[in-house]
Amino acid sequence: MEKIVSLCKRRGFIFQSSEIYGGLNGVWDYGPLGTELKNNLKQYWWQVMVRERDDVVGLDGAILTHPAVLKASGHVDTFTDPMVDCRTCKARLRADQLAEKNGVRQCPNCGGKDLTEARPFNLMFQTQMGASADPASIAYLRPETAQSIFVQFKNVLDVSRKKLPFGIAQIGKAFRNEINPRNFTFRSREFEQMELEYFCRPEQGMDLLAYWLKERIRFYEEIGISRKRLHVLDVPETERAFYSKGTFDIEYEFPFGRQELEGVAYRTDYDLQQHIKASGKPLDYFDEETKERFVPHVVEPSAGVDRTVLALICDAYDEDSAPDEKGKMETRIVMRFHPRVAPIKCAIFPLLRNKEALVAKAREVQALLRPHINVFYDEGGAIGRRYRRQDEIGTPFGVTIDFETLGEKGEELRDTVTLRDRDSMKQERVAIKDLPQLIPSKIR
Ligand code: GAP
Repeated sequence: MEKIVSLCKRRGFIFQSSEIYGGLNGVWDYGPLGTELKNNLKQYWWQVMVRERDDVVGLDGAILTHPAVLKASGHVDTFTDPMVDCRTCKARLRADQLAEKNGVRQCPNCGGKDLTEARPFNLMFQTQMGASADPASIAYLRPETAQSIFVQFKNVLDVSRKKLPFGIAQIGKAFRNEINPRNFTFRSREFEQMELEYFCRPEQGMDLLAYWLKERIRFYEEIGISRKRLHVLDVPETERAFYSKGTFDIEYEFPFGRQELEGVAYRTDYDLQQHIKASGKPLDYFDEETKERFVPHVVEPSAGVDRTVLALICDAYDEDSAPDEKGKMETRIVMRFHPRVAPIKCAIFPLLRNKEALVAKAREVQALLRPHINVFYDEGGAIGRRYRRQDEIGTPFGVTIDFETLGEKGEELRDTVTLRDRDSMKQERVAIKDLPQLIPSKIR
């Protein structure tokens, strides 16, 4: 994990938030490469979960949430973790994460045994709306994106004219005042979710739960996460939310242990029923064919953007060996990102920076590829070092413009370049005019 955290900072994937002021615990900023990686992940999720389906539409709900919504959903009363205080070092700790020695609970910070009784701690962030400070002005930062989907169910149904089963998808920020944020970005206080609420008839619920579990596993494979590090936990009834008829956790083997990436839950009609009761508004569905009116059930695949980014980074990290400038083997750090999510798809190198014709040609190639893929131009240092820099950030392809490109080694090679593959380190000679089709075809 140390190597990964250090690479993330060194190469601009992830920084501690407010770092120059000592950092804000549990909050992270994504640097230039992390932003690209995260955007690629979100775009691919949106592509397969919304755009490529007839039965899913999108929503972009507000973060600030009416307290009545979260009262109805149960978050105001029960979205809590058990917390204890250490009277010795004053640390606030999650009661379910305490160390134990000879059956005695201990503070993991100082080893102290003088701990308070556990009490519930609500994880929601509260804020005030407007100038007045009375209790009626309280609003919450949403703890999940799901609730705005339930609250807008009727509006979306009316405008999209979808028939069951159909889903509403959303990607967006969520906030939880975690007692112990830890494991880098894994447990943060501000994070993003990619959630789908898939509405159906009650009798379809269990089959759709199995269907979505399969679809979601396929998604992780398609973004390059190795199947052998993915695990499915069938959450036992005693650990499920009381309204859930089935929940699967998709877990990933992080360097700090096997942990949840996504929950796929059959939530029955609990949320819609709660909002019907609390708002008095009809959030039901009329089936034109059977002339029945009922409250749909829902299956929810709910994934964390930041956790998936972390899994992508952990899964991609590799070390092998490659020859240096003098042909001596040296250790190479290589991020083996799937080209689909790689922050930069292709690096463009003129062989020498002081040869005007090489630089001009390389800039031409850059302009040719830019409308199709994210490219990076680099003319600094020996070519081997430039390859290494790109390997370390997971760029799958590199194009080098050399003297053959200029026609100096035979007319037949004019306007051809070398295309280098990050993983095999093999190079092939290809025509510049073919690059805009060739590289994207290797990415999709
Ligand atoms: N709507 C259901 C829901 O929010 P959840 O299991 O609490 O379910 C879903 O959260 C996903 O959100 C998790 O599987 C995880 O990927 C992500 N997530 C939850 N809490 C998080 C945190 N503190 N930091 C980063 N990601 C988190």
